[in-house]
Amino acid sequence: MDSHAGRMDAIYRTQRHFYDLTRKYYLLGRDGLIRALAPPPGGTVLEIGCGTGRNLIAAARAWPEARLYGIDISEAMLETARAKVARAGLSGRITLAQGDATGFDAAALFGVATFDRVFQSYTLSMIPDWQGAIREGTAKLAPGGELAVVDFGQQERLPGWWRTLLFAWLAKFEVAPRALLPEALREVAANAGLRAEITPHYRGFAWSGRLLHG
Ligand SMILES: C[S@@+](CC[C@H](N)C(=O)[O-])C[C@H]1O[C@@H](n2cnc3c(N)ncnc32)[C@H](O)[C@@H]1O
Repeated sequence: MDSHAGRMDAIYRTQRHFYDLTRKYYLLGRDGLIRALAPPPGGTVLEIGCGTGRNLIAAARAWPEARLYGIDISEAMLETARAKVARAGLSGRITLAQGDATGFDAAALFGVATFDRVFQSYTLSMIPDWQGAIREGTAKLAPGGELAVVDFGQQERLPGWWRTLLFAWLAKFEVAPRALLPEALREVAANAGLRAEITPHYRGFAWSGRLLHG
């Protein structure tokens, strides 16, 4: 296990038991991302950094014809995700595997190499090589596929003291909001022949980004 995986396990070994209850108040924008996924009928959806499986379960319910896949670097999180998916009766539609967002072999893990929709929710702010993770997610898109991202913004329309307190608190959990996220998404999009759409939410609390065709 590399040190990043070990640190993620250390952070989430206990937190995973109350993660969904607490995060629902501040991991904003996740449900909007799921509503906008719109995979093609019978299509495939991959969440990179799926955590407890909360988003995959919501996506499976929102898009009942889709087949869903999730990777996470933390085995502790995956243990919780597997149990939640089984309790939701969705083990037949959601497949989970351990993998690193910056480099993983989807064909070996899932028997599926590329996906119609790939998303990363509040994960890039925890990955040291987050630009590499955007590139890797984009490389996993099937023809016509789209990438969606939601993460902390720069709190640009909120008071300075709020930003200072929030960022200091997030740093305790190895979370660093990425100021250059819009630029990085635009660069990856341009290299992949895609269009980037970046939207701030809640006065910059969160940012969402989509890499689309056309
Ligand atoms: C803040 S949680 C978000 C979980 C979920 N996406 C959500 O929206 O609730 C971040 C997740 O990213 C995972 N993660 C961190 N670094 C990763 C990496 N390099 N590869 C895959 N997953 C990673 C963590 O283990 C954790 O489950």
